[in-house]
Amino acid sequence: MGGRSCPGAAGMTIKVLLLTATLLAGDLALGHAPVLAQTAGAAAATAAQPAPWREKLKLFAQASFKHPAWGYSHSLRIYNLSLQLAAADKAVVDDDVLFAAALLHDAAAFPAYAKKDVDHADRAVELAEGLLRDTGFPMAKLPKVQAVMRTHMFFREPAGPEALYFHDADSLDWLGAIGIARVTATVDLTGTIIGGVPDGPAVVRQLQAFLQAVPPRILSPAGKAMLPERRVFLERYLSTLAAQTDDFKTL
Ligand SMILES: [Fe+2]
Ligand SMILES: [Fe+2]
Repeated sequence: MGGRSCPGAAGMTIKVLLLTATLLAGDLALGHAPVLAQTAGAAAATAAQPAPWREKLKLFAQASFKHPAWGYSHSLRIYNLSLQLAAADKAVVDDDVLFAAALLHDAAAFPAYAKKDVDHADRAVELAEGLLRDTGFPMAKLPKVQAVMRTHMFFREPAGPEALYFHDADSLDWLGAIGIARVTATVDLTGTIIGGVPDGPAVVRQLQAFLQAVPPRILSPAGKAMLPERRVFLERYLSTLAAQTDDFKTL
C-alpha cells in the first residue's frame, strides 16, 4: 500500500489506466523472467524448482490480494525489482526473505487483514507468523521478513540489505508510468479510498505529493540510478496534463 492517505474518480482515462495495470499484472503473473540477484541460499534452486512454500504463498496471495495498486501484481513486481537493484549494487540478499515479504507486506491494505489505528506495515508484521507458519517457510528467517515489512514505506528507515532494496523497490513503484497507473487505480466510485474525493484532481494531488516526498527517500545507489527516469516521466505527465486541462481546472 502506498501513501499515508489514498485518492478517488471514474471515466475513460481511469479505465485505460486500470487496463494498463491489469496488463502489467498479467505479464507478471505469467512469470516473465524474475531478475536474479546475487542471493544467499536458495536463489538458484528456486529459479529451477520453486520450494513448495513459495507455491503455497503465491496461491494464497493471488487469491487474497486483488488490487492493481497493492495486490499480487505489485508484490511480484517489487520482489523482482528488489533483486534487480541488489544485483546492480552487487549486494547479497536472501531471496526467501524478499519473496515472503513481498507477497505479504501489504496484506493489511485489505479489510480482512487490517486493524483499526494500526499502520498497514506494522499490521503485516503482526500477521506474518500466522500466514507463514503452515506454508513450510523456513521460520528462522521470520524476523528478517518482519524487518523488511516494517520499513517498506518510503518514509521509514530500512536496516540491512533486504530491507534497503525492498524499501527502494516499493518506493520506486510510486513513480514513473507504474506510479501513475497505481495511484489512478486507487480511485473508486465511492471515493472512500483516497481522501473521500472521487475525482481526477485528487489523483493529481497524490502524484504531486509522491513526486515531492519519494525521490529524496530512495536510498540505495541502484535505486538512485533508476530514479531520474521515473521522476522525469512523472514530471512530464503532470506538466502535460496541466497544459491540457487549464492547470487541472478542467480535469
Ligand atoms: Fe507495497
Ligand atoms: Fe505498503
